Amino acid sequence: MSDQEREDNQEVYHFSPDESVPNHVAIIMDGNGRWAKNRGFKRSAGHRAGMDQVKIIARHANKRGIKALTVYAFSTENWKRPLDEVNYLMQLPIEFFDEFMPEIMEAGIRVTMIGLHEKLPRKTKKVMERAIKETAHNTGMILNFAVNYGGRNEIVEAAKAMAEDISAGKLKPQKLTEEDFEDYLMTSVLGAYQNVDYMIRTSGEERISNFMLWQNAYSEFYFSSLAWPDFDEKAFDEALAVYQKRQRRFGGL
Ligand code: IPE
Ligand code: IPE
Ligand code: MG
Repeated sequence: MSDQEREDNQEVYHFSPDESVPNHVAIIMDGNGRWAKNRGFKRSAGHRAGMDQVKIIARHANKRGIKALTVYAFSTENWKRPLDEVNYLMQLPIEFFDEFMPEIMEAGIRVTMIGLHEKLPRKTKKVMERAIKETAHNTGMILNFAVNYGGRNEIVEAAKAMAEDISAGKLKPQKLTEEDFEDYLMTSVLGAYQNVDYMIRTSGEERISNFMLWQNAYSEFYFSSLAWPDFDEKAFDEALAVYQKRQRRFGGL
């Protein structure tokens, strides 16, 4: 098959504003380092460009009617990176909210966060907590940051908290349901949108990297070969168009 034939055969999907969009989109924003390296920049330049892309995609997702957008910004495994890279990543939220807060308020976006906050540098933690507090009454899209987040860690933390409630006599283990367990997960801040509908990973890697293990149980997956700083509104719409063609069955027919 020639390239032209292949192109002709390949179905091109177009986003349709009349069809449904996923409620909760979760993104593994990968490829910042390679994006920078390919341009002869330092990895930090890739992270800075990646941060700008969060603004662009958050703005656009809100416009498209997405109810919750979770962005994986730092995993529990990312501490393994060189200290200067970790430090750079940890100060990015400070810049992000400095620059983006007025627009967040104007768009009515509500900021939430999942992950272990205690381990973050004081300033980073403070800035994130302030954004959560200041946007608490906003009623638009939820912009949920996964920072120092790990799916296994989240499940263990939930099990610990539940075990404590059981020993305090507040819960009966025999009666526990999946819904009860979800109340203990960090994503309970997302309310009705706790489970992921659409999981997007950029940069061509096709793995989950400890991201929302519980919440992805029935999500649709989309892998883009673009690096995160190149994943623009058009790429997001293409992803949505693919979602609109999917058939979700949840085990049924
Ligand atoms: C994703 O980009 C951002 C974080 C993990 C913080 P990477 O930094 O993983 O970029 P690559 O995968 O090395 O290109
Ligand atoms: C996943 O990307 C974590 C984030 C995007 C924050 P990584 O680049 O850390 O994942 P691996 O190491 O390639 O699996
Ligand atoms: Mg990576």
